[in-house]
Amino acid sequence: MRVLVFGAAGAQGGAVARRLADEGYAVRGLSRTGAAPDGVEPFRADLGDAGRVAEAFAGVTHASVVLPLEFDPVPVAAYVRNVVEAATAAGVRRLVFCTGNRLPAEETGVPAFETRRAAARAMLESPVPSVVLCPPLYLENLAAPWVREGLAAEGVLRYPVPARVRLAWLSHADLAAATLAALTGEGLEGATLDLGGEPVTGPELAAAFGARYEAVDVDAFEAGLAAVAGARTAAGVAATYRWIAGRGHDLYAAPAGGAERLGITVTSPAAWASALRWASR
Ligand SMILES: NC(=O)c1ccc[n+]([C@@H]2O[C@H](COP(=O)([O-])OP(=O)(O)OC[C@H]3O[C@@H](n4cnc5c(N)ncnc54)[C@H](OP(=O)(O)O)[C@@H]3O)[C@@H](O)[C@H]2O)c1
Repeated sequence: MRVLVFGAAGAQGGAVARRLADEGYAVRGLSRTGAAPDGVEPFRADLGDAGRVAEAFAGVTHASVVLPLEFDPVPVAAYVRNVVEAATAAGVRRLVFCTGNRLPAEETGVPAFETRRAAARAMLESPVPSVVLCPPLYLENLAAPWVREGLAAEGVLRYPVPARVRLAWLSHADLAAATLAALTGEGLEGATLDLGGEPVTGPELAAAFGARYEAVDVDAFEAGLAAVAGARTAAGVAATYRWIAGRGHDLYAAPAGGAERLGITVTSPAAWASALRWASR
């Protein structure tokens, strides 16, 4: 099994590539800059370059795909087309696509959800045997400076979701475990699996860190994120939180059966927090 991991220089793809390499698989890591974790064969390609994406699949039997922080439907559709066509031509035996978030039941008009819904459909309808993983929110979001500083210095967990809304969480390490299981498990082709632990309210999440919860206004969150990630990315991400705060209170409410189906254990926020020195006061 030779696995091509997309976004291998990034947070999610990096965790997946490291886990697969640690397990002894041959891993090729695709990124724009050509950076990849130790033990991973680096491959520099832009997802918009069909020729380079096709070259990346040379000798590849399995693929782990996550899309970058791009939410414009036109380039994203081209990225997805390039991946699907190249994976089909290479005769890839299993492709695991991580949507980067849960997919709301109904159309939302929110590009971060709808571009990923379209991508999942394209992969499942392609000739490539595919599995779609829908994570909830990542626990690593809580390590971003704008959350971490409040937690460590003030004992306040600030997040752009109303306190009563139940959110589910997943670590990047658990995503990597789920991806490994989805790449290698029997009878999973065509499945769309929700991942994540038991949904918790803001105050319940904060309690895992020994903190109190404060909901942040989404506009303020967007302005802060724009300063570090740029206005387009911030607008794309903020639109998901605006939708959750408005119509999407139930996005994470349904039990996620994906972890059981894949045979993995999901780390709780409390267990994740207890492993962090900065999070304990
Ligand atoms: N649910 C959540 O809580 C949550 C949180 C964060 C993100 N997300 C979702 O996760 C996805 C982003 O993943 P991430 O957090 O792992 O992102 P990330 O850390 O920014 O990593 C992105 C990776 O993709 C590569 N990349 C970027 N643009 C590319 C292009 N045009 N062609 C080829 N490679 C490209 C980057 O390569 P270089 O580094 O070499 O440029 C990097 O390896 C998005 O879909 C986002 O919406 C979800």
